[in-house]
Amino acid sequence: MKNKALIASVAVIAVILVGFFAYQLGQQSNSADSTADSTTESSTVEMKTVGILQYVSHNALDQIHQGIIEGLAESGYVEGENLTIEFQNGQADQSRLNTMSQQLISEGSDVLVGIATPAAQALANATTEIPIVLGAVTDPVGAGLVADLDAPGGNITGVSDQTPVAAVLQLAQEILPEAATVGILYSSAEDNSQAQVAQAQAAAADLGVETKLFAVNSSNEIAQTVQVMAAQVDYIFIPLDNTIANAMETVVQEADAANTPIFPSVDTMVEQGGIATIGLNQFQIGVETGKMAAQILDGADPATTPVYLFTEGETIINSQQAAKLGITIPADIVSEATDLGGEE
Ligand code: TRP
Repeated sequence: MKNKALIASVAVIAVILVGFFAYQLGQQSNSADSTADSTTESSTVEMKTVGILQYVSHNALDQIHQGIIEGLAESGYVEGENLTIEFQNGQADQSRLNTMSQQLISEGSDVLVGIATPAAQALANATTEIPIVLGAVTDPVGAGLVADLDAPGGNITGVSDQTPVAAVLQLAQEILPEAATVGILYSSAEDNSQAQVAQAQAAAADLGVETKLFAVNSSNEIAQTVQVMAAQVDYIFIPLDNTIANAMETVVQEADAANTPIFPSVDTMVEQGGIATIGLNQFQIGVETGKMAAQILDGADPATTPVYLFTEGETIINSQQAAKLGITIPADIVSEATDLGGEE
């Protein structure tokens, strides 16, 4: 009996020791790998790696990308000094986004950042271990990325760019008091647009305005869809939709041809030919995202780090575009707004 107990405990200790040494060896080769990646000075400076995946190029997302680099730097992570940034742009191609996610992981990213919902979703599908910071994801819960904005619960947290949709429709109504029908233009493939479309419908109902939905399945359909809708509605509302943002020039061209005004959800799209919005500064969204990535690099746990929400939007108008369509923006709105179309 005694012998058996002795043999058993020796065996247990042996297993623990072997496990411990195997673990130590693993740790050593891990750190050997990471020093091999870094510069020759890596013995003094610890390099971190942030992998950024951007969904597509459009003005807003490009500004967010720049803001992220600034936010990291403001928090002490400077590219080339103590930080390596791996950047990939999926150009709206789902299979590329998946491949690039794997690539950013195999390059040893300490933190991953997804700019726009489809990019964040690709990263989320690729890892449940490495922390992911959401860069401008409109509806993190609806997109299936976090369980709760205050208590994300997993390896994901970040910054939402949710805008006050009801206030934008209210603004449209003040500028176009006669408007009776709003057409909503969005992409059926983007989860980020769903919540805002529902909000816009509810807000329009409150204002006694009829809504007509125009969902496009691909960017090829946009020109024709805008032609069709422009003939049926008093104005067009566009949520934070990447497919539409990427084709804004076409949208404006077709809407202008029918003299139909556009109220988007972001300053960049007002600048390109929208009338007005209440929106967020895109660079600032990036700065907050970069700061949060830095917090995670410093050891914060995404599971318990609340999603950052902006509380106030800025009123943005394009007086030149309004004049072109024969629309007068009331003076009280002009006086409090930033004019991106004015030439004075
Ligand atoms: N919020 C969008 C998303 O979740 C991304 C985005 C940020 C965006 N800024 C924008 C889309 C401006 C259109 C226009 O995917």
